[in-house]
Formats: sequence, structure tokens, C-alpha cells
Amino acid sequence: MHFKGSNILSVGQFNADALQQVFQIADQMAPYAQRKKRTKVLDGAILGNLFFEPSTRTRVSFGTAFNLLGGEVRETTGMESSAIAKGESLYDTARVLSSYSDIIAMRHPKSGSVAEFAEGSRVPVINGGDGPNEHPTQALLDLYTIQKELHHHGRTVDGMHICMIGDLKYGRTVHSLSKLLCLYKNIRFTFISPRELAMPSEVLNALSNAGHQFNVSDELTGVLDADIVYQTRIQQERFASLEEAAQYRGRFRLNSDIYTRHYKPNTVIMHPLPRDSREEANELDNDLNHNPNLAIFRQADNGVLIRMALFALTLGVENLVSKYDTEVVWFSDKANY
Ligand code: CP
Repeated sequence: MHFKGSNILSVGQFNADALQQVFQIADQMAPYAQRKKRTKVLDGAILGNLFFEPSTRTRVSFGTAFNLLGGEVRETTGMESSAIAKGESLYDTARVLSSYSDIIAMRHPKSGSVAEFAEGSRVPVINGGDGPNEHPTQALLDLYTIQKELHHHGRTVDGMHICMIGDLKYGRTVHSLSKLLCLYKNIRFTFISPRELAMPSEVLNALSNAGHQFNVSDELTGVLDADIVYQTRIQQERFASLEEAAQYRGRFRLNSDIYTRHYKPNTVIMHPLPRDSREEANELDNDLNHNPNLAIFRQADNGVLIRMALFALTLGVENLVSKYDTEVVWFSDKANY
């Protein structure tokens, strides 16, 4: 895969070599994310950070990653504060904003919208989530996290058993992650969701074609010998009404008791976040917060490393980062980051 000057719109663009390249550069970004060093390799570059749908992690970690490489960030958030609300097309918006930026990260509620925007852009565009379709940078950070967590337990992605739970129909993170895992071998998937929110057949077909096995269920029973349990939120913003979404909330909760009864002791607990902590949902209980297998905040931390790597690669500076670095002189305690 050729990164320099390329859009990153889908996990379908990646092959095994490209993944290892991203992960290797991400590893090299750790001293900068940990504030042990700083770099000015992107001094003068501007990121256009366009988020037309709510976001905390993706939006802020894109911005943080760009700042940590020495670049500046310009943000637009929400449809109502952009000229799209006046009927401007994605193409025109892209033509204009790409002259103000060197690279653009974008989230939008409609499937295919980021690719449509990229058609008009004069600079690389990175998909930060397009409706229920894809969330490629999340899949990369999830896979990077899975690899690290399993390595810690002497295991590999090849041959693992992953259990995905919740809203598998509208959850774009599980779509992108499952597709990316087609690049690996002999993975077992267990998909647990309400029947109406099952994993789309397009994803199941891709897994079959890759030689993986999967089980589909609408209930959690027995002990699962999963290496990873990946919990998700009911994506209420994708339903026709809040009432419709509400009937699925709280159907599959993961708490300390359920974890102990249904999973083996070192099963890694993941969630793309945000978790819905409202009482009626509570899909991932706070009583797991001190469980060492809870990887959700390590996942979020890894998002900065992955997004730094993608910026460095698409802007062609991946081999220049240390050339422009200096020491950090302020107090910082991010050693475990
Ligand atoms: N995981 C994720 O996409 O989180 P945000 O919606 O906060 O960006």
C-alpha cells in the first residue's frame, strides 16, 4: 500500500504489510505521546478536523496526534455550524476546505459520505466514521490493542477467539474490525446480539471467504473460551426513533459477575467507547473498572499512536520524526501511556 498522499477511507485498502508498517510507526510514536520528547516534523501543516456527528475520542485524538507532530488543527463540528446547513454540497465543501488544510479528518452520519467528500478534496482525507458503514482508524487501533494485549498473554491474533456483543448491525467499529481480521488466519468469532441487530451478511460472507468460523446467537450462555470480548453500545442515533433503540438497551450487560461466569480468567475486555453508562443501558459496568483485563482506556490511548502514524505516513514524514525532535522540559507523568 502506498500511503503518501493517499486517502484512508476503508479497511479494505490495507494488506498485512501495510498493517505492520502502521503498527511499527505507531510504536515509534510512544515517546512523543508519553511527552518524553516533542517533535516539530509537521511544523506549519494544518489539519482540517471536520466532525459532522458527535465525537469525543476520535475528534480529540486526531487533533492531539497532529499537535504532537508539531502541526496546527482547525475544527468544524456539527452540521448546523457549517454551510452544509445552507445546502452546500460535500464536493464544494471539500474543494474549499482542502485549500485551507494539508490533510483532513472527517466524520459524517451518512454511509459513503467521506468517500464522496474525498472526491472533491485536494488533500488526503481520513475517514473518522461514516454512518453505520466504516470506522477504519478505530479498527486499526483496536487491532493494534488486540495484538499488544494478546502478546502480553503469549497469544497471537491468528487462532484467537473473539466475542462481539451488542449492536452488530449499526456498530461500524465491529464491521471494520471484522473485515480487517480477514487478513489473519483461523479466527473464531462469536456474535451475540438481539436478532434484529445481527452482524450484516456482507461481513459474515467476508469472514467465511477468509476461512474463519463464526457462531451467531441472541443469548449469552455457558462459558465462552474467548480471548477477547468486544462489547458495543446500542447506536441509538441510527434508529428510526429513540423508543425503538430503547427496547434493545440493557439486553446484554457485561459486569464482574457475568464476566466471571461466562469468560475465562484472562479474557481481554474491549469497547470502542463511549460506553452507555445510563442505568437502563450500562452495557459495561463500572465494577470492571479495576479489572486488569479491562483494555478500554488502553484502546483510547492507542488511538493517538495510530493516528500519529497515519498522519506521518500520509504526509510522507515517517522517517523524519526524530530528526525534528527536542527534549520536553515541563513536568509530565505519562510513563504508562
Ligand atoms: N470510538 C469512537 O469513535 O468514539 P467517539 O465517538 O467519542 O469518537
